[in-house]
Amino acid sequence: MRVVVTGSSDGIGAEIARVLDGRGHEVVRHARDEAKAARLRDAGAGEVVVGDLASLASTRAMAASLCAGAPFDVVVHNAGWLPPEGPRPVTADGLERTFQVNALSAYLLTALLPLPSRLVYVSSDSIARGRIDLDDLQHETQWTADSAYADSKLAMTAIAFAVARRYPAVRCNAVHPGWIRTKMSGVAAPLDVSAGADTPVWLSTRDDPPTGMFFHDRRVVRLNEQAYDTAVQDALLAACATLTGTPLP
Ligand SMILES: NC(=O)c1ccc[n+]([C@@H]2O[C@H](COP(=O)([O-])OP(=O)(O)OC[C@H]3O[C@@H](n4cnc5c(N)ncnc54)[C@H](OP(=O)(O)O)[C@@H]3O)[C@@H](O)[C@H]2O)c1
Repeated sequence: MRVVVTGSSDGIGAEIARVLDGRGHEVVRHARDEAKAARLRDAGAGEVVVGDLASLASTRAMAASLCAGAPFDVVVHNAGWLPPEGPRPVTADGLERTFQVNALSAYLLTALLPLPSRLVYVSSDSIARGRIDLDDLQHETQWTADSAYADSKLAMTAIAFAVARRYPAVRCNAVHPGWIRTKMSGVAAPLDVSAGADTPVWLSTRDDPPTGMFFHDRRVVRLNEQAYDTAVQDALLAACATLTGTPLP
């Protein structure tokens, strides 16, 4: 299988890529910039694509370079960002950064890449306390790091379920990887990256996976009913299409 794993320069994504690579799959890794890509290549990674997911132009350029190669069997949307407390972060596109990196960039890559047979969206159990406010997706009225992260992961999950509904032939699922020791979660987290990579790898490779589900530890869980609301899903897709200027095919 040919697989691309976003955010595979570090943490859980690096482990997903390492495991899939070790099982003989053709893995394209993804790094935020050329310096990180060069470090991956120096360490023996094969193909590496570069793209800053906090930039629509960079995300588009990344999609274009991915489209130039052979199509993918699996796309793992793993990249993610946990903002520090502080002022509301805004990107050069004028978008709230957490929403752009965690939800909108995954939407845009999904819209721009040829549909693979499997899609895996690495979400978070923080969606249990998340809320999709269609009138304020980017927290313009009130911003905290925790709610921006949880809400962006819930938005990503609703996008995954909307994509699963729209393309029934694609096996498309979301996953909570667990509380994993990475630079995002820190040393207090109880589990190592092999535990975090387990369910994403399993969803990428298992025979006959279901679609439109949320997994943790290889089991289906339901953490936030709003993600399953088809009216919310459709409105969210429409908002993402407007913000990016790119509807889903
Ligand atoms: N660790 C946990 O306990 C936990 C729990 C629930 C969910 N998750 C989710 O699991 C996924 C992996 O997280 P992790 O713990 O492995 O975190 P991590 O070690 O911080 O890795 C995140 C990856 O995403 C990349 N990334 C972040 N912002 C980016 C941007 N603007 N452009 C391109 N790449 C970007 C990072 O690149 P750089 O190396 O350049 O920063 C890195 O490769 C995330 O989606 C996270 O939300 C993690």
